[in-house]
Amino acid sequence: MILEAHGVRKLYGAYVALDGVSLSIREGEFVSIIGPNGAGKSTLINVLTGVLPPSGGSVRFKGRDIAGIGTVALTRLGMARSFQLVQIFPELSVLETLQAAVISRLGRGARLLASLGADREVHTDALEVATLFGLGDKAHALARALPQGDKKLLDVASAFALRPEIILLDEPTSGVSTADKHVVMDILVKAAKRIGLRAIIQVEHDMDIVFGYSDRIIALHQGKVLADATPAAIQADQRVVDMVVGRRRAVDSRSNPSPPVGERAATVLGVKRAEHERGPSDGDV
Ligand SMILES: Nc1ncnc2c1ncn2[C@@H]1O[C@H](COP(=O)(O)OP(=O)(O)OP(=O)(O)O)[C@@H](O)[C@H]1O
Ligand SMILES: [Mg+2]
Repeated sequence: MILEAHGVRKLYGAYVALDGVSLSIREGEFVSIIGPNGAGKSTLINVLTGVLPPSGGSVRFKGRDIAGIGTVALTRLGMARSFQLVQIFPELSVLETLQAAVISRLGRGARLLASLGADREVHTDALEVATLFGLGDKAHALARALPQGDKKLLDVASAFALRPEIILLDEPTSGVSTADKHVVMDILVKAAKRIGLRAIIQVEHDMDIVFGYSDRIIALHQGKVLADATPAAIQADQRVVDMVVGRRRAVDSRSNPSPPVGERAATVLGVKRAEHERGPSDGDV
């Protein structure tokens, strides 16, 4: 078990945003968290990434209690995240943005920020991540000038540049056109395999993406886990379909026929997981 939450509660004043959430994330999994607006998905990500301390319950990453530990400490432990709203520096170029992430990973601190680009290792590493995310030919473009899909990619790429063991993504394809969503996801999955990511957790509203890429789906509703199961089992759970899936499908995919459930599932980190089941060999990553 890489990441575990037990009985997590989160209160905002008197409002109960998370009400006894328990979950575990295993080696090699791609897990999607779904739920209606206000269900507590972002709050859960914030608690799982140590940004917000839980009001009750516990969160453990690699066996260690990380409740409220903070982003910097968690990054050092091997966890990275991206936010629901793109968090990029508009005046930095793609390359500078990724260099900033690499520098923070290498722990070289603010002094080196002054000489962005001067360090060869930092430059090479940042360029490699840019290329991996299809942003190589836009390395010198300013972040603010990128189309929305590329801004999302850059945000996610910054998290990857930290070379985490696991990554949590809050709506990685929000604001991205339907046509580009799969492009973003395919790049993300390729990058995940490349850096040998041990797990991905994403919050996602687009059900085609959710069902197309997840090994497991956790449905949140009013701060509680409504279901935690495989895509096929979620699809067969009438309560979840009624309260979350169907409602969402009606909202966003009238024009878009859905791929069959599980068509792409387990193509994600599945290779790596299969290897782990067989033994310690890390061939393909
Ligand atoms: N800082 C805060 N202070 C008070 N209430 C908050 C705060 N952050 C979130 N909430 C409330 O907690 C509930 C859960 O919010 P959260 O952002 O976790 O939902 P979500 O599932 O991510 O929704 P969405 O799909 O719209 O992103 C909502 O009712 C929200 O209004
Ligand atoms: Mg949210």
